[in-house]
Amino acid sequence: MSDRVIIFDTTLRDGEQCPGASLTPTQKLEVARQLDRLNVDVIEGGFAIASPGDFEGIQLIARHVTRPILCSLARALPKDIEAASRALKGAKRRRIHTFVATSDVHMKHKLHKAEGEVVRLAVAAVKQARRYTDDVEFSPEDAARSRPEFLYRVLEAVIAAGARTVNIPDTVGFAIPVQFGELIAGIKANVPNIDQAVISVHCHNDLGLSTANSLAAVLNGARQVEVTINGIGERAGNASLEEVVMAIKTRPDLFGVTHGINTKELYKASRLVSKLTGFLVQPNKAIVGANAFAHESGIHQDGVLKFKKTYEIMRPEDVGFGASKLVLGKHSGRHAFGERLKALGFALSAAQFGAAFERFKRLADQKKEVFDQDLMAIVEDQLTDVPERYRLIYLHATSGTGVVPTATVRLQRGKETLEAAASGDGPVNACYKAIDRLLGFKGKLLDYTIQSVTSGQEALGEVAVRVQAKGRIEHGRGASTDIIEASAKAYLSAINRLLGQASRPRRPKVMA
Ligand code: KIV
Ligand code: ZN
Repeated sequence: MSDRVIIFDTTLRDGEQCPGASLTPTQKLEVARQLDRLNVDVIEGGFAIASPGDFEGIQLIARHVTRPILCSLARALPKDIEAASRALKGAKRRRIHTFVATSDVHMKHKLHKAEGEVVRLAVAAVKQARRYTDDVEFSPEDAARSRPEFLYRVLEAVIAAGARTVNIPDTVGFAIPVQFGELIAGIKANVPNIDQAVISVHCHNDLGLSTANSLAAVLNGARQVEVTINGIGERAGNASLEEVVMAIKTRPDLFGVTHGINTKELYKASRLVSKLTGFLVQPNKAIVGANAFAHESGIHQDGVLKFKKTYEIMRPEDVGFGASKLVLGKHSGRHAFGERLKALGFALSAAQFGAAFERFKRLADQKKEVFDQDLMAIVEDQLTDVPERYRLIYLHATSGTGVVPTATVRLQRGKETLEAAASGDGPVNACYKAIDRLLGFKGKLLDYTIQSVTSGQEALGEVAVRVQAKGRIEHGRGASTDIIEASAKAYLSAINRLLGQASRPRRPKVMA
């Protein structure tokens, strides 16, 4: 058995299925390029038949990202497999991933099919997919709740039909590590032709066990793990790529396997996915959260200063995390700023660079110490992928005990300046009402999150919002040392998105 674990990233398929995370084809390409830099083995670029956007996203990635294997999901239906094969046509290395449910509850209540019929569908799908590519993966959906004997029968049949990877999904996050490990061991022991296929696992996080279950599977012989950046995905998400790969890297004594991930690209990948999906990463998230390497207690700080390994099992720099280093200050010039941005992987146009440098200077004045995370936040703020139809140029807000909160907002639209004032329940509410009044905007704020980018009183505040209007949901994000300004920017960026894409209707997706 190989000792290399294949890293199959499904951020762009299962990850993108999480409510409100949908990405445009161009955004998918941006993520795929970062996944390529991470050196993932397989990118599941989408579910070709689910929507025109998914189809286009796969095609776009196929044209521009040629090293990793590119995969499309397909139900075990002829039209799905045909759509997957068309979307993947331009890809240098392509895989079709087909699936059908095998648990009693799914077969009886969702598919209304008996076991024999499910086996027939699975085999037919794999055979059809093999006509387009040698690289076919099959998933018995809800495998963790399927009857093991039936699972063995399905797996044996699909491998005989030509599946080269058999993926065992814990679709509803029901498994417990010991038991999931035993399931993988059972498959190895009871499927006669299992040596002709790679065993893969795909774990959901409903009980918070997706990483643990994936690792238990690796210990029992799985050699592919399906993961997403930041663990995003349906409901509670999927196993997180960064957690699985760092566990394998940190504990070679236990796992005795390797993977090809360039872990120094993890933090950047996490930031990018967070920026594009609008989901902030919780500060205590393992590996990539803002506090993942922050030592707060005096005893810990003392220990780390004496000898890092007392409290650090991984080095922040190994995951591309520069938090503990002071990188730039107010005396840093354009050259140092440019070099640091290059090291962080940003390529800015001259105009973007000029604007980012100006913001950096203002920030350095306010903050004294500017960290990599601060730089990333302001540059990401600058690098908006949506035309800035409305830009915030002035904001004045008042609030206090016994004072009615009010806000005056001035926006730029082309050459025109618009101004309005409003009062509200708080300064953010007042500011949002003023913006609504200015634009005649009738939307609903679904979600508002605020987080500090680094620690300290002068830290940048980062706000993420989700706004709904006319049946569409878009996210927005803004960063500033002034949290009311960050809130206004986030709200405006969501509105700019909604306005920018209003003319591009999206068809509802078929979900796996
Ligand atoms: O969770 C699941 O079962 C899936 C399959 C389609 C692999 O996403
Ligand atoms: Zn899934």
